[in-house]
Amino acid sequence: MESAGRRNDIESASDRHEQPQDATRTTVPVVAPLRIGSLELETPILQAPIAGFTDLVFRRIVRELGGCGLIYTEMISAGGWVKGNIPPDRLIGVKDEPRPLGVQLWDREPEMVEEAAGRLADLDVSVIDLNFGCPKKRIMGKQGSGAQLLRDPATVGRMVEATKRGAGDIPVTAKIRLGPTSDLITAVEVARVSEQAGAAAITVHGRTARDGYGIPVARDRIAEVVEAVAIPVIANGDIVDAASALEILEYTGAAGVMVARRCLSAPWVFREIAAAFAGEPIPPPPALEQQREQLLRHHQQLVEVHGDPLGTVLIRKFAARYLAGVKGAKAFRAQVTGARDAADFRRIVDALFPTGDEIEPDVAGQSLVEESCE
Ligand SMILES: Cc1cc2nc3c(=O)[nH]c(=O)nc-3n(C[C@H](O)[C@H](O)[C@H](O)COP(=O)(O)O)c2cc1C
Repeated sequence: MESAGRRNDIESASDRHEQPQDATRTTVPVVAPLRIGSLELETPILQAPIAGFTDLVFRRIVRELGGCGLIYTEMISAGGWVKGNIPPDRLIGVKDEPRPLGVQLWDREPEMVEEAAGRLADLDVSVIDLNFGCPKKRIMGKQGSGAQLLRDPATVGRMVEATKRGAGDIPVTAKIRLGPTSDLITAVEVARVSEQAGAAAITVHGRTARDGYGIPVARDRIAEVVEAVAIPVIANGDIVDAASALEILEYTGAAGVMVARRCLSAPWVFREIAAAFAGEPIPPPPALEQQREQLLRHHQQLVEVHGDPLGTVLIRKFAARYLAGVKGAKAFRAQVTGARDAADFRRIVDALFPTGDEIEPDVAGQSLVEESCE
């Protein structure tokens, strides 16, 4: 299928990236802009939906730090919402926060996603994404949703069509894995069906539903999807910095990248990738003092939204991901994961958040599994 004008041909990008960088020189963008339907993104770098993490406050932080072209909510059960028995927490902020903002839905019933998409259209969200990748047993098994639908491309097509009916002019996208198992790779078929049904873009996490994060991302399989469809394909999986983002674009020809786990410990990763994509010098990470301020602000905003101690309970999992690779992080994490309330949290940050610049050789924040993908 013709793919010119959509593929990223960045052969020269990594060469350019290797040149000594001069902050004052005029730069030429090396990665093409990404358009999803009628929406032109400022950068082709997306923040993944991450259940349990990408709530209103986290999304604010990502927006503030810059570089991210499209931010997603956590996955939301369309049926749960429509039938009225889902706590609407995952929609907190969606009505009023800045655009662009993508909302992800999961379900297996076209009627449910159609109705939920209609409600999201009333909220004027920027993109509606459908989850066909969640590998969690409860979602795949009992619910027959998420990555289970990779076995059933026809239903995927009906889901995309129904979502489009509800969404009106809002672009609808799909997020998929390669297939349910390595014996059943359906990504190309699912992507083609989604495209025919009107999807505006596809994100491919380059693993099957059975693969753990220890299995390398199959970049060849992502490249096959890029070849198979004319809509933009966004590559996802193990992108942790500017180099890995450039590498996967170059290898697969994808139109953009999506980052999940790494942004939880380094939400500034988007601006690093954005700089590389624009052929600019990569900015340094915030100093530890700035990271400390950011963590305190994050906590304060969680307390404002949820009260205390819930806001403190919610900050624990974020705080535990801060300081990847920094000396003293272990002692901080050991305490902060047990913080009881706002005062206790503040005491632990004051006492144990490291202020030196010593780095330990540990790879940041990639140990999380998709446990809370529900
Ligand atoms: C804790 C956790 C929650 C996740 N929640 C979602 C989700 O709600 N929707 C979704 O499409 N993917 C979800 N994912 C998958 C990520 O979006 C992403 O596809 C995957 O982690 C690979 O990207 P990464 O290597 O950058 O982490 C989740 C992953 C993790 C670790």
